[in-house]
Amino acid sequence: MKNIKMLVNAGDKIGHINRELYGHFSEHLGRCIYNGIYVGEDSEIPNIHGIRKDMVEAFKNIKMPVLRWPGGCFADEYHWKDGIGDKSGRKKMINTNWGGVVEDNSFGTHEFMELCELVGCEPYISGNVGSGTVRELSEWVEYMTFDGMSPMADLRKANGKDKPWKLKYLGVGNENWGCGGNMSPDFYSNVYRQYASFCKNYGDNKLFKVACGANGADYEWTETLMKSLKHNGAWQANGIGIHYYSVPEWNNKGSATKFDENDYYTLLSTVNFTETLLTRHSEIMNRYDPEGEVALVLDEWGTWFDVEEGTNPGFLYQQNTMRDALVAAISLNIFNRHSKRLKMANIAQVCNVLQAVVLTEGEKMIKTPTYHVFDLFKEHQEGECVYCHSDNENMVEGKDTPMISSSASVKDGVLTLTVANCSLTDDAQISCDIFDFDAKEISARILSEEVHAHNTFEQPENVVIKALDAKLEGNKVCMKIPACSVVEVTLR
Ligand code: AHR
Repeated sequence: MKNIKMLVNAGDKIGHINRELYGHFSEHLGRCIYNGIYVGEDSEIPNIHGIRKDMVEAFKNIKMPVLRWPGGCFADEYHWKDGIGDKSGRKKMINTNWGGVVEDNSFGTHEFMELCELVGCEPYISGNVGSGTVRELSEWVEYMTFDGMSPMADLRKANGKDKPWKLKYLGVGNENWGCGGNMSPDFYSNVYRQYASFCKNYGDNKLFKVACGANGADYEWTETLMKSLKHNGAWQANGIGIHYYSVPEWNNKGSATKFDENDYYTLLSTVNFTETLLTRHSEIMNRYDPEGEVALVLDEWGTWFDVEEGTNPGFLYQQNTMRDALVAAISLNIFNRHSKRLKMANIAQVCNVLQAVVLTEGEKMIKTPTYHVFDLFKEHQEGECVYCHSDNENMVEGKDTPMISSSASVKDGVLTLTVANCSLTDDAQISCDIFDFDAKEISARILSEEVHAHNTFEQPENVVIKALDAKLEGNKVCMKIPACSVVEVTLR
């Protein structure tokens, strides 16, 4: 047992936690869309116009704020006009990035927008820059958002949608340094400016345009973008979307469920690197944009392991254990602490792909440990992140592995504190002083199991949230949290 002293100063505000920091990502990849979220109207699985009902409920429960679609690498080969109109007439397409499967385009713009409406989240569309045209993206925006008579608005109406949708988030390309066109930062910056110029704000619809950001620690990409995204005195982008996956080694990703202590701590070290990454990208942005007009967006993050045995290698289907829960908790705590510049983050991916929050098999759907972490953290959304410190120790020499990860926020007179004990062996006796907040009531919830524990279709409740006994002694929170656990404390 380790005694850990913590401190929260509710009067020391660090940044506003946009709800979009708790965002998600859905790509046409493996069984994320087809045979995942979308089962088709004729399916026996309960659905609304083909969209699984159980999934909609699950997403609502974690207050999913935003969903990115249709990719990923897929976005830069997606032609939106092939996915509208009568389904029987829609063109088929080859998903060249993910398994070479042929898709029938039965899930397109209307279906995605309906999914977002059902969940109550913002759509985040990533447009095709790599293999599309300026006109194609410009027309997609017109199709979705123009209220009036125009070629695209008329087409939308002919397809059964009279009134436009609201669209805030628009990504202009995806990984254009790689699968999205193998561009140099200079070249992409110019291409971005050209594309973004023709993505218009119609009526009161105001786009938040996200430029493709760096691949992990490619700081030169950010530097180049920041140099060129201001034109005629105005920023041409509202955000820059970087990507960072937690993978110990790209050539040897390892299994999602079979790993040893060394694998665990090595992975944690790559997750903790997110802190450095966000700090360094933010520092570059601060130099060019001290007013903070351009947001940092992390529109893909999460773990990436070998696919489950017997599954299609192009489908990226992996299980999800308590290790993933720790990864999620560390990441979300880091995001909160960076909420001044970081305004959106999207875990990859929402269902059946990479660090998924839900997995499906036929009619069955399970919630993963990562899902439960999003549940534990949901009250941070739209809160003010406040100073939170723990007297921490690094667990493994040579690896960035603090034992305790934490963050705190205040909203509507409620203080939410989230703490992860990342040790595999040591329980923690936490004693946390709370300043500048008059706490009268306390409640706490915990997710804690052995690190390999995961939910299966046979045993969907191996890992679930339970109540935790936490005490308030004056203005001090006292609780014992076991090794390998994630906790939410609520003070009123
Ligand atoms: O999430 C899987 C893939 O990872 C995405 O398609 C791509 O953007 C990234 O490389």
